[in-house]
Amino acid sequence: MNSTSQTTQAGQKSVLVDIQDGIAWVCLNRPEKRNAINPAIVREMNEALDALEMDDACKVVVITGAGDSFSAGQDLKEYFREPDAGHPVTRERLHKANAQWQWRRMMHFSKPTIAMVNGWCFGGAFQVLLACDLAIANEKATFGLSEINWGIIPAGIVTKSVAMAMMQRTALYYIMTGEPFDGRRAAEIGLVNFAVPADELKARVTKLAQTLMQKNPHVLRAAKSGYHYVREMSWDASAEYLSAKSDQAKFRDPEQGDQQGMKQFLDEKTFRPGLGGYDRSR
Ligand code: ACO
Repeated sequence: MNSTSQTTQAGQKSVLVDIQDGIAWVCLNRPEKRNAINPAIVREMNEALDALEMDDACKVVVITGAGDSFSAGQDLKEYFREPDAGHPVTRERLHKANAQWQWRRMMHFSKPTIAMVNGWCFGGAFQVLLACDLAIANEKATFGLSEINWGIIPAGIVTKSVAMAMMQRTALYYIMTGEPFDGRRAAEIGLVNFAVPADELKARVTKLAQTLMQKNPHVLRAAKSGYHYVREMSWDASAEYLSAKSDQAKFRDPEQGDQQGMKQFLDEKTFRPGLGGYDRSR
């Protein structure tokens, strides 16, 4: 797939993938179950992300949900009750496969990712949301760490993700009360970048994806990877790692962005780095 305006329907029942002008719209597709994450979504999301990472037609991934939901979190029947009653190894494998797409693969995905939160977003869906690099919500979407309401803690890796993304008072308030909140509040507490009216959501996400597509993809990949790793490192280790990462990014960058940027700013005086990017067409 290499056309810039190609549409791809992967033909998967629970996850739909549609690539348009470089943006892969990945849609959780169980609207009748509020896109609750079941074993089929786990399997199909792993497959979809695998394929998109290798597909040159995909420059940015947007995760969203069909109907009026982003996702109602893990499926209480198919992800919890049924596997809990089955063979322990089957359950363990399902949880590992889920962690694979929701956390390991998404957080370190080699292309930029945006969560487009169109509606309901609960429990395990926070993991999907926080594993995406950026997020824009419908201001009327409803969010909630609802686990406490039915007798479990926010597990998987949700509590850790929330602790990284929210202030302590805010995180514990929502973890301990399970109180729902809307998209505007999600933007206020930094859980999403912006909240916009529903009818502007897709256009705003498209605009953000287009901004990301203008950047050097090799440097973008190194920048997000660097961010995630240094969060867990000491200051000295971070400085050493970032220095090595920076050299690696320059070494591997086929468009030699730093050389272009310096030349266009210092010698040709054709752009200002503080106000926008260098001309990548040269
Ligand atoms: N797991 C399994 N099934 C679900 C889930 C879920 N997380 N969420 C919704 N469904 C199913 C319902 O059982 C129902 O199925 P049915 O039609 O066969 O009866 C269908 O989706 C529609 O659900 P309703 O509750 O009727 O839809 P409504 O629009 O009134 O409410 C809401 C939507 C608020 C999202 C509600 O379904 C809900 O509270 N879901 C659970 C949300 C939650 O707590 N998620 C966290 C799970 S824990 C975790 O992720 C770790």
